[in-house]
Amino acid sequence: MLKANAPKCNIRGNVVVEENPYLPERARIVRKFDLTRDVRFFQVRICDPDKVMTWTTNYKPGQFMMVSLPNAGEAPFSITSTPSRPGLFEFCIRKVGRLTSKLFELKENDYIWLRGPFGNGFPVEMMYGKDLLFVAGGLGAAPLRSVLLYALDYRDRFGKIFYLYGARTPDDMLFREEFFRMKERDDFECYLTVDADPTGLWPFDIGVVTSLFKYVNVDADNTVAIVCGPPVMYKYVVDEFLKIGIPDDHIFMTLERKMKCGIGKCGQCVVEHKYTCVDGPVFTLWDVKNIRTLI
Ligand SMILES: Cc1cc2nc3c(=O)[nH]c(=O)nc-3n(C[C@H](O)[C@H](O)[C@H](O)COP(=O)(O)OP(=O)(O)OC[C@H]3O[C@@H](n4cnc5c(N)ncnc54)[C@H](O)[C@@H]3O)c2cc1C
Ligand code: FES
Repeated sequence: MLKANAPKCNIRGNVVVEENPYLPERARIVRKFDLTRDVRFFQVRICDPDKVMTWTTNYKPGQFMMVSLPNAGEAPFSITSTPSRPGLFEFCIRKVGRLTSKLFELKENDYIWLRGPFGNGFPVEMMYGKDLLFVAGGLGAAPLRSVLLYALDYRDRFGKIFYLYGARTPDDMLFREEFFRMKERDDFECYLTVDADPTGLWPFDIGVVTSLFKYVNVDADNTVAIVCGPPVMYKYVVDEFLKIGIPDDHIFMTLERKMKCGIGKCGQCVVEHKYTCVDGPVFTLWDVKNIRTLI
């Protein structure tokens, strides 16, 4: 597996040549569809056939790509697919501004450009043998999907798995049908909640995501907890992790900062002495307590 943010190398003749980390790779949109009103799913394939497998197996869940379009800009997006299912990259993109609006205009078979993978990602090897407790809110389900699918694909490497996901309404829930299908599995526990159900048809819990902790039954000392969602949710979810007794260095969260280079050069994402693009976007609660301005 590649070291996070390590420049990729090619061997030309006998000379090892470092690839330019600012040079994007062209990828074709294979499939796209709307997950919610303003979030679209994109499945893309690297155009260079020699790079398809190396790119889609050499990344960690939790890493991100810099996605760009000529004349529209470049921005970081979490990879929502998993290296255990290589061949394609998947992204969930919320339409918020210039680049994302242009991405929403694209059709299948159009091209986008990618640099990466960047960031530290989740320490999946450290999670082997442990119970996993995932808590997602809103668009936080995008980076968590990568590590959840990874854990389910290598199910025998992990202990119990609990996945708690909260969205504002049923229509705001990403991958709703996928989660409905996953709920049928008997080798992990998936609980879904919505803040409100204007349809009156929602078959599961209603309430904030922390209300789902009543279902959790893990071995606290041997659990890794991961939270990803809007910053306002973190404090309440972390309080629940701590009530269970999960240690600070077993609690992980992904944090977002504006980014430019993605490789620790421009300083755009620096918080105190940490580069969010290289040292993050995944941090432990221990990091967050010691670098108070991270959240
Ligand atoms: C590590 C990482 C992973 C991300 N993963 C995803 C993802 O999976 N899906 C997704 O939809 N978005 C993700 N984002 C956010 C995404 O990068 C921004 O929404 C993107 O910059 C939007 O580009 P734009 O040109 O469309 O918007 P812009 O025109 O650049 O900005 C639109 C508005 O969003 C604000 N904004 C832009 N970037 C950020 C940011 N990082 N934090 C807070 N406010 C911001 C701007 O100030 C502005 O108000 C991620 C960000 C980071 C740092
Ligand atoms: S985005 Fe340039 S240093 Fe992090």
